[in-house]
Amino acid sequence: SFVSAKIDEKFDLIIGNPPYIRWKNLEYELKQELSNNPIWNKYFNSLCDYLYIFILKSIELLNDNGQLIFICPEYWMNTTHSISLRNYMVQNGYFEEIYHFNETPIFDKVTVSIIIFKFVKSKETKDKIKVSKFYDNQKLSDEILYNLKNKIPFNNAEFLIVSQFKLNERWILQSDDVRQELQILETNCLKKNQNTLFNLFDEDKQEFHTIGEFCDIGNGLVSGLDKAFQVNGHALTENELNATINVVKAKDLKPFVIDNITKYIYIDEEGLEEEFFKENYPNFYNHFQKHKSSLDKRYQYNRNINYWEWVFLRNFNLFKKEEKRIFVPCKERISNKDYFRFALVDEGVFPTQDVTAIFKKHNTKESIEYILAYLNNPIVFDWLKCNGIVKGNIVEFSEKPISSIPFRVIDWSNENEVELHNLISHQTKIYLKNQDKSLLYQINQSFNKLFSITQ
Ligand SMILES: C[S@@+](CC[C@H](N)C(=O)[O-])C[C@H]1O[C@@H](n2cnc3c(N)ncnc32)[C@H](O)[C@@H]1O
Repeated sequence: SFVSAKIDEKFDLIIGNPPYIRWKNLEYELKQELSNNPIWNKYFNSLCDYLYIFILKSIELLNDNGQLIFICPEYWMNTTHSISLRNYMVQNGYFEEIYHFNETPIFDKVTVSIIIFKFVKSKETKDKIKVSKFYDNQKLSDEILYNLKNKIPFNNAEFLIVSQFKLNERWILQSDDVRQELQILETNCLKKNQNTLFNLFDEDKQEFHTIGEFCDIGNGLVSGLDKAFQVNGHALTENELNATINVVKAKDLKPFVIDNITKYIYIDEEGLEEEFFKENYPNFYNHFQKHKSSLDKRYQYNRNINYWEWVFLRNFNLFKKEEKRIFVPCKERISNKDYFRFALVDEGVFPTQDVTAIFKKHNTKESIEYILAYLNNPIVFDWLKCNGIVKGNIVEFSEKPISSIPFRVIDWSNENEVELHNLISHQTKIYLKNQDKSLLYQINQSFNKLFSITQ
């Protein structure tokens, strides 16, 4: 196989569509082959991908100024465990061009984002890389390829000039401005006492403060069939009215605020028999009958769930806390927007499964309004776009990705910072009342002042 083949020749051009398989998914024989391979042992380990050795060995096989052109997934440009491959590439040449296809179905049944890169083996380097991005999820046509190749602007394409990647950096296909902005955010969120020269060169050692340290986070409640639980203006008895909860659905979230609250049926009575259910909740009973067969087919989580019950009340105790909370859609498509929708919601309002809720931990001093404004900040948007869990054009906001967002904590011994925290909280409170767009600009200005304290 290519891994252990002894190849004495050198080449001016290598073109390929190499395999990519995580170590843990490799067959036993392939693992054995890699374990006996000097290149693998020198640069990689069991957290690496089969792809890496194909890239590195191909570069070894190039003549000076020889070119490597590969079509492959993009994930290794950004992950921690590919750092030795990336450093090898930075030290042995430069990129001339990269094409990035986001969600574009290039190969059947392959859903990862694909790149095509041209790397030149050289002792010299070049300042800039030509990057072309295509965002659409439609199949490629000759015309699209022609336009991309010739850098002819069209819808869903972006052409960027990106600085050559550097040692020990994640490779981010963004303009220098955005890269600088992300650097500012990360420096701001770095834990104190870590910023030593040693740590700066070891990306595993650098640690940010994260939202997860300061907030409790939980995904919303699962009814199993939302339309059956929505009250939708039915006339209700008083008993029934008391058996409803206020819920916000993802589609009703906006940045900072919500559009709409929906009433859902929620009967908090254990061991209720159908007979009593019918008697005590007659309108609910009638309403549920038309959905009964679908309700019975819901996933039962290994329990016997009555058709009037929610299937999974995960995080219910968290949601019952008597305090404001921040809601965000679990998934957000960003192909046509440049913001996320973190919204402040009153106590007593619950999230459904398409929403994740964020609560301040009890010892967090930063205000909920400050956290809200922070999460809606454009720099955090850019950071998440580059570093979050992004699949195609969809950014995921389940518990884990939200907890790992870097957080700009306030240094409470610094008057200037405290003042800016209070100002941001105040500006946000006013925005929540009147939604005057000019305040958003002011809030971002205040954050910029805060970020500039740490530079
Ligand atoms: C991503 S696929 C490329 C498919 C190719 N473009 C085609 O259309 O047939 C990677 C290919 O590398 C081959 N491959 C995997 N491990 C290999 C190895 N150790 N040596 C040589 N080829 C290998 C696989 O069989 C697979 O066909």
